[in-house]
Amino acid sequence: MGRLSSEYIFDVNERIFLRPLTIGDAQQSLDLINKNRERLAEWLPWVAHVKCIDDELNFIKSTITTIANGTSLEMGLFERNTSTLMGMCCFVSITGETGYIGYWLGSDHTGKGIITKACRKLIEIGFQQLNLKKIIIHTNPANKNSQAVAERLNFITNGKLQPVLYFGSIVDMLVYEYIKPQ
Ligand SMILES: CC(C)(COP(=O)(O)OP(=O)(O)OC[C@H]1O[C@@H](n2cnc3c(N)ncnc32)[C@H](O)[C@@H]1OP(=O)(O)O)[C@@H](O)C(=O)NCCC(=O)NCCS
Repeated sequence: MGRLSSEYIFDVNERIFLRPLTIGDAQQSLDLINKNRERLAEWLPWVAHVKCIDDELNFIKSTITTIANGTSLEMGLFERNTSTLMGMCCFVSITGETGYIGYWLGSDHTGKGIITKACRKLIEIGFQQLNLKKIIIHTNPANKNSQAVAERLNFITNGKLQPVLYFGSIVDMLVYEYIKPQ
């Protein structure tokens, strides 16, 4: 993805927008991961594999490919006034008519409802623009903050652990679903 077309920039509100990362975001993204590494690594296995700028560049390049072929919509969450990257909120994977949401925030931005608002936008994008029928959030049963996001968004879970593919490994997770309203 070279210059981003406006169809890939999504306003969450007047202060915040979502857009795919570009190569120019690599250093800012790595800095944010480094600043929050310990916190993020507790829940996100990929964090251990992003150690240097080349790792982040490879990640961004891979997202450019998966976005282009429709199998993800990986996006950063940016503060409009400062162009500061706050975290990610995106479809980490799209298979058929199902989208899988992932999210994380830098600690300066938690506790303000930002991810909940960004996910609402993402759900709208998923159903209205990507023609998804179902959206899923996988959370570790111990990850209460992530579960609270899913529940605030009215995602439904049966409360049972299920083995799911999570960043390349099979892991027991809670599965939260949101079916497109008729
Ligand atoms: C998961 C994660 C993104 C959730 O962040 P968060 O800040 O708790 O979520 P939100 O941005 O939706 O904010 C909700 C918080 O803001 C508060 N809030 C303030 N204004 C709000 C508003 N208008 N709407 C909703 N919540 C609001 C809520 O009360 C809640 O605070 P609380 O946890 O003290 O009750 C964050 O904990 C994180 O980055 N974790 C590490 C990575 C991770 O676990 N990712 C998920 C893997 S499945």
